[in-house]
Amino acid sequence: MNAPVQPPIIRHVAAGQLCCDPVWEAAYKRFETPEQEITKFIARLRRFGFESLDRNSRIVEIFCGRGNGLVALEQMGFNNLEGVDLSDSLLEEYHGPAQLHLADCVDLPLESDAYDVVIVQGGLHHLPDMPTDLDGSLAGVRRILKPTGTFYVIEPWRTPFLVFAHAVTDRSIVRKLYAKGDALAVMTERERVTYDQWLGMPEVIRETFDRHFDIRSWTTSWGKLAAIGSPRKP
Ligand SMILES: C[S@@+](CC[C@H](N)C(=O)[O-])C[C@H]1O[C@@H](n2cnc3c(N)ncnc32)[C@H](O)[C@@H]1O
Repeated sequence: MNAPVQPPIIRHVAAGQLCCDPVWEAAYKRFETPEQEITKFIARLRRFGFESLDRNSRIVEIFCGRGNGLVALEQMGFNNLEGVDLSDSLLEEYHGPAQLHLADCVDLPLESDAYDVVIVQGGLHHLPDMPTDLDGSLAGVRRILKPTGTFYVIEPWRTPFLVFAHAVTDRSIVRKLYAKGDALAVMTERERVTYDQWLGMPEVIRETFDRHFDIRSWTTSWGKLAAIGSPRKP
C-alpha cells in the first residue's frame, strides 16, 4: 500500500521569526513518547465524544506542536485534518496527511466559516500578552468555525491536584528519580511566566471565552480545563 502523500508545510511566517525555545522543546519531546501521546490523545478525544463525529469533518488543531494529536485523529478515521503551530522544528516531526501551517495562532491565517471543529490541547497557556492574545486567538477560532462548528479545549487549570503535582515534581530528588517529572519541571520552569499568568486569571479567561463562544461544557479537574463551545456568530 502507498504511504499517504504528505503536503508541504504552508509557511505563513518565516521559520523562527516569532519563537522558539530549544530547551523547552527538548523537554516536551522527552516528557512522553509519541506513542504515549497518541494513546492519551485518543482517550481524550473519546471523552469529548469524537467517536460520534462525521469522519469527513474539517478539523484544525491549533498549537499542534509535533502533531501527535493529528495522528490520533487520523487513527480514529478522520481524514480532513490541519494543524497550526509556530515551531517549524516541531512541525517537521509530523509525518502524515494533515495540512500543516506555520503561523501565529493569535492571528490565524485560515479561511473564515470553513471548519467543523477546532481543537487546542495545551497551547493557550503559552500566550504572553494576556488577555489580549487570548482574545485574538479566540476571535480567530470563532471566525474560522462554521456557524455549526465546535471548539474543544484542553488547558492546564489550577486545581488541588495540579498544586500537589507541582509540589512533588519540583523536588530535586523526584526529578532525579523520575524522568517524566524532570521533563515536566523543565517545561514548567521555561514557560513559568505565561503558565503562572494563565493559572492566575481564571475569571478573565472564562469571560473572554464567553465573549466568543456559547459554552456547552466547562469542567475543571485533575489540573485540566476541558471546555466545549459553539461560536457566537452575528
Ligand atoms: C505545550 S505545546 C502543545 C503541543 C500539542 N498540542 C501537544 O499537546 O502535544 C504548545 C505549543 O504551542 C506552540 N505555540 C506557542 N505559541 C504559539 C503561537 N502564538 N502560535 C502558534 N503556536 C504557538 C509551541 O510551539 C508548542 O508547540
